[in-house]
Amino acid sequence: MDNISISVINATSPKYELLFHLRDEVLRKPLGRSLANDNLYRDFIDTIFIAEQGDKVLGCVFLHSLENNVAQLRAMAVYPQYQGKGIGRLLVQAFEQYAWKNGYLKIILHARKVALGFYSSMGYTAYGDEFTEVGIPHYMMEKSKPE
Ligand SMILES: CC(C)(COP(=O)(O)OP(=O)(O)OC[C@H]1O[C@@H](n2cnc3c(N)ncnc32)[C@H](O)[C@@H]1OP(=O)(O)O)[C@@H](O)C(=O)NCCC(=O)NCCS
Repeated sequence: MDNISISVINATSPKYELLFHLRDEVLRKPLGRSLANDNLYRDFIDTIFIAEQGDKVLGCVFLHSLENNVAQLRAMAVYPQYQGKGIGRLLVQAFEQYAWKNGYLKIILHARKVALGFYSSMGYTAYGDEFTEVGIPHYMMEKSKPE
């Protein structure tokens, strides 16, 4: 897709407000849930990556800092009509570039089972047993900083 730009923001940005709708539509409503029931405290300490085309925000991913130089990749979402066009890949690439540059040594995430193929294609490895989150099956996945 043309003219997609990736920016780094935080929850004080006016653009943050647009991410509630994005995550609610993509990550909660299809499961019969609402983001309004989530505790969003992490949003205010996370580093947020957004994909934009013009003034439209099409996708996002959040970096949550954990102990031991580990970054958690979470809240990965692209609006349905823009999925499969390489936007998720651009977001993960920007996330990784930022993470490795800022001293993180490993990225972990809770991958929905349906998204395992997406993360595998980006070099992430699943580990541990399947577990349930937001009512659906997930696996832990990880990727280490390249040598
Ligand atoms: C998962 C998601 C973020 C991927 O973003 P996207 O923009 O659709 O993905 P891309 O177009 O960048 O795809 C990148 C690669 O992953 C592959 N891929 C994408 N989704 C996939 C899936 N569900 N299963 C297998 N492979 C997948 C693509 O074919 C592409 O491979 P290629 O570069 O070799 O062609 C997006 O589809 C989405 O928001 N899904 C619904 C919400 C969700 O599941 N979020 C993840 C929660 S853990």
